[in-house]
Amino acid sequence: MSNFYEERVLSVHHWTDTLFSFTTTRDTTFRFKNGQFTMIGLKVGEKPLLRAYSVASTNYDENLEFFSIKVPDGPLTSRLQNLQVGDPIIIGKKATGTLVLDNLKDGKRLFLLGTGTGLAPFLSLIRDPETYERYEKVVLVHGCRQVSELAYGERIQKELPNDEFLGEMIREQLIYYPTVTREPFRNRGRITDLITSGQLFSDTGLGPFDPAGDRFMLCGSPQMLVDLKQIFEERGLEEGNHGEAGDYVIEKAFAER
Ligand code: A2P
Repeated sequence: MSNFYEERVLSVHHWTDTLFSFTTTRDTTFRFKNGQFTMIGLKVGEKPLLRAYSVASTNYDENLEFFSIKVPDGPLTSRLQNLQVGDPIIIGKKATGTLVLDNLKDGKRLFLLGTGTGLAPFLSLIRDPETYERYEKVVLVHGCRQVSELAYGERIQKELPNDEFLGEMIREQLIYYPTVTREPFRNRGRITDLITSGQLFSDTGLGPFDPAGDRFMLCGSPQMLVDLKQIFEERGLEEGNHGEAGDYVIEKAFAER
């Protein structure tokens, strides 16, 4: 039995020269938890060319969605960026990953911290009702170099609050905090600095950092993860993983190198 589903591309959206997203059909037997990733790719000759991708859609959506960078010489993304509606795509049957609610202790506030395409797993988690049942406030921080890279911002701010089922929870509990490092914008600076300076907490009006009630999920550039881990450890937070829930969990964004 194959480890892969063969699906079809349903839509493609190019956000910038370097970022795009696409949706595909979903086999009814494909199960995953919101926040997880799976292997996806294309057949090149007879061989599948695969990379890990977080699923940006939720486990209750009919279709699948993925958010990708375009690496000019990347073996997979240089091909993926040319996807057209109707093209075949391979999706791994086994989803996995640490950015799942089960790996986090209960708390008051959940901070989802992502840079670049590290936003993807959080797009799924902010549409999971359990996220809002477990945490009073959910703060989604998306850090990018440029304003144009703040993909999905419109959808998060305009569509989600009007969602038929989740709208009320999202209006009351979700705070979206986009931040940009290399050009003017209403929020400026690296996620690390926004946390150590306390600015993230004051800007969102939530009160100071609280190790007893704050929980974090991190996804993005490897150096950001190293730096944030140090910041959290210094403050006495414990990393969670499969089997042991913690105060924070980490996943690197799956950029092609
Ligand atoms: P900066 O512009 O200061 O490098 P990239 O496009 O390189 O993946 O970066 C995405 C975002 O992550 C950028 O805003 C970048 O800020 C930020 N970033 C890069 N490295 C770190 C780090 N070590 N800690 C916090 N933010 C970082």
